[in-house]
Amino acid sequence: MKNTDNTPTETAIMEPDYTQQFCDDVIAGLTATPKYLQAKYFYDAAGDELFQKIMGSPEYYPTNCELEIFTQQTTSLAEAIIADGSPFDLIELGAGDAMKSTHLLRCLLQKQAAFTYVPIDISGHVIGYLNDTLPDALPGLKLTGLTGEYFDMLKQAEKLSRRRKVVMFLGSNIGNMPVADAEDFCQELRQHLSAGDSVLIGVDLKKNPKAILAAYNDAQGFTRDFNLNLLTRINRELEANFDLGQFEHYPTYDPETGSCKSYLISLTDQEVHLCDTTISFQKDEYIYMEISQKYTVEQTDQMAIQAGFAPINHFMDSKGWFLDAIWMVE
Ligand code: AVJ
Repeated sequence: MKNTDNTPTETAIMEPDYTQQFCDDVIAGLTATPKYLQAKYFYDAAGDELFQKIMGSPEYYPTNCELEIFTQQTTSLAEAIIADGSPFDLIELGAGDAMKSTHLLRCLLQKQAAFTYVPIDISGHVIGYLNDTLPDALPGLKLTGLTGEYFDMLKQAEKLSRRRKVVMFLGSNIGNMPVADAEDFCQELRQHLSAGDSVLIGVDLKKNPKAILAAYNDAQGFTRDFNLNLLTRINRELEANFDLGQFEHYPTYDPETGSCKSYLISLTDQEVHLCDTTISFQKDEYIYMEISQKYTVEQTDQMAIQAGFAPINHFMDSKGWFLDAIWMVE
């Protein structure tokens, strides 16, 4: 059975509003000092594909570590989520290909847990794919996919049912925010939830700096292409004229702060035209592209408590490189 009635915005992604917002955000970022672009715009069809390649590269460990947790500790995860057995909505923020969640979903179905899976993703491409494939792969799965920004869609999800909510935020997506924003995010998330609700959050942990830097500087250049692809997207969707040969990917990791950041460096003085605006770059000027923040377990507990959650469970891979934590609303 295919779910076709809940693909609201696979085309909306290209609606004028979206392009206008994209244009406004790009102009705001490239006229700021220092220049920046928003990582959420990485994920067009080509970006989704490049991210898949990053995940398949030998250097990018987070996916494999979290997959190990989801395959080796599936029953414990499922039991922690089922908790008192009351029906729930399993909402996944940034579902991606749902590869990890699929293991959990299968286990929940086997245990005859009463739940609906609600994947939310910024990429209409991704949600369309889940709608097309998951109900076949997991017979009996109830699925309602939503395309859009996390909190907008969380509000939508609140309207769908009054069941208890379990919100999954996997893959260290929280790392895409600077620490202060991550703290705000957890607080905002808490405000969308009520007593009895819980969160399953995946966080990449601090570890040997070389292992971290290598994950964002893979030898095959997928991460470089992933960053440059955003310029390609801007060229196509905003009719800009970035010369990709004149920008170089520069990844960094600072073990002190746990911040892994990537930049595109302008190799020359140059001008780029987009949305009726001209942007000047000086040689060696950077565009700040993305942060992938790393935490200690203690820092994540602190963040939970500060936002009004109680950290209940810690699931870690055998190397201790990645954490999936369960937080309950206090
Ligand atoms: C999807 C945000 C978790 O930060 O590790 C991977 C994105 N960027 N390589 C990450 C990413 C470059 C990824 N997240």
